[in-house]
Formats: sequence, C-alpha cells, structure tokens
Amino acid sequence: MRDQHKPHFSIELPDAEATRKLGERLATLLRAGDCLTLSGELGAGKTTLVQGLAWGLGLPRTQYAPSPTYNVALTYPTTPLLHHIDLFRVGENAASLLGDAYFSDDAITVIEWPDRAISWLPSVRFEMRLEIAKLDQRRAEIFANQKELMERLFRI
Ligand SMILES: Nc1ncnc2c1ncn2[C@@H]1O[C@H](COP(=O)(O)OP(=O)(O)O)[C@@H](O)[C@H]1O
Ligand SMILES: [Mg+2]
Repeated sequence: MRDQHKPHFSIELPDAEATRKLGERLATLLRAGDCLTLSGELGAGKTTLVQGLAWGLGLPRTQYAPSPTYNVALTYPTTPLLHHIDLFRVGENAASLLGDAYFSDDAITVIEWPDRAISWLPSVRFEMRLEIAKLDQRRAEIFANQKELMERLFRI
C-alpha cells in the first residue's frame, strides 16, 4: 500500500488549517462502512486531519476532536458515526480484543498507527500516509486497496 508506483492521490499541506480542510473534504469521500488508516510519525497531523473530518461530518465547530491515544477509541455523534481509534499504545493482541465492533455499516472508522495491528484491520480500506516536509508543511498520500474505493478516490 505504500508503494509509490501504485496510483494514489498526493497533496501538499502548508499548514494545520490545510490539513483540517483535507479532512473536511474527505467527509465527501468517506461513507458509512469505510475504514481509513492514518500513518505517520508523532506530530505528522493525523489527529488534526480527524478534527477536520469530524467537522465535515457535522461535529459542531465548537467541539474539538481530541487524540484518542489514552482512550484507544472515541466515537463522535456525527452522521454517519465516526469511530476514531489510536493504536499507538496497543499491540496486535490487544487490538484483536476490540473485535469488529468498530467496523460496522453505520460508521466510518479512522485508525491512527495501523501498523500496530495490521492483521486486525479490514482488508478493504483507504490508507493515508502523512509526512513532515518542513516546519509546518506536511505531505499527504492517499491510497485505496480496492478498485471501487480507488474510483471514488479519484472522483473527489
Ligand atoms: N500542515 C500541518 N498539518 C497538520 N498539523 C500541523 C501542520 N503544521 C503544523 N501542525 C501542527 O503539528 C501538530 C500535529 O499534531 P497531531 O495532529 O496531534 O499529530 P499526530 O496525530 O500525527 O501525532 C499540531 O500541533 C499541529 O498544529
Ligand atoms: Mg494523533
């Protein structure tokens, strides 16, 4: 999935606001039942992107989407529901204890640190990699590992 030669969508993000805007734009791409993984080092902007996505899905702008690092999972009352999962402190075994409750037809599931529990992830998913370019600049690359998702990705 991180193969540079696979078709993917790449975007420069000059500041945190641009990352939130990309999150908001993803609200038009993602549908109930979808999974999106977010990879990238600490501070790359994964949680910032989820903030924009939550707003795009209808979370009031007065509400902040906090990092779920210490909670593992948070669910926002958006439409559809948004599950925000952070596997930073969670290994493969612990993730499997979460079962598949967070993957359902009525919710979008976004997962930070997917590498912690690859075998737990749904096989069909969007994957985003965020890289720190310089100072406030980030670069996002989005992949889809299935034809139907890829077609949707290239329509936004
Ligand atoms: N272009 C950018 N996109 C996202 N965050 C940025 C950007 N530039 C600076 N930042 C800052 O970097 C930090 C990213 O933190 P966070 O989103 O929690 O990262 P992660 O969840 O990947 O650890 C925030 O303090 C944010 O304000
Ligand atoms: Mg985070």
